[in-house]
Amino acid sequence: MTPVSQRRQPYKPIDVLIDEVKIQRRVVELGIQITRDYAGREPVLVGVLKGCLVFMSDLIRHINLPLEVEFISAASYRKGTKPDKNIEIADAMTIDLKGRDLLVVEGIVETGRTVDRIVKRLKELEPASVEIVTLLDKPSAHRPAIEPKYKGFKLGNEFVVGYGLDNTQKYRNLPYLGRVSESR
Ligand code: IMP
Ligand code: MG
Repeated sequence: MTPVSQRRQPYKPIDVLIDEVKIQRRVVELGIQITRDYAGREPVLVGVLKGCLVFMSDLIRHINLPLEVEFISAASYRKGTKPDKNIEIADAMTIDLKGRDLLVVEGIVETGRTVDRIVKRLKELEPASVEIVTLLDKPSAHRPAIEPKYKGFKLGNEFVVGYGLDNTQKYRNLPYLGRVSESR
């Protein structure tokens, strides 16, 4: 067997954009804000897989409410960093969402098409309310009329990885947000 040191390194170097401490501080703030806004209620946090993975697990630990969690998955079948038109939605939800206060948890919103599709799907289930919380907001020119109520950080037009976000399924396990460095 090839020793680890001699195997091809799977990751390219990453330039750190938002470090762990900064992310954690912002997640705490979002948790406090949501706790305040939903006081007296029992929201269902609906995570959009797979990008919500790390953000959602941190966020729920800073929301002091009797919340519940669900997951829905959206695959946009983009190769690398190029956007693609096909969004496929799937879920295996077990909680009856009728009359519930839903908070859709996304890692990143770009055109908003993915989250827009998800919100439409969830509204068919007749919830009491639906809001969006996204760690990253990357407003693009072609955005439909959707506006996340809770946003962690605003980004320009750059592709980021880490903290749950991938590039062709890799880098989700990085504890910070970064840019794949092409120059090194
Ligand atoms: P939208 O439908 O254009 O809003 O795209 C949102 C989806 O594209 C996210 O759920 C991500 O899966 C993916 N995406 C968009 N920008 C990035 C990025 O910078 N890094 C990783 N994934 C991204
Ligand atoms: Mg992706």
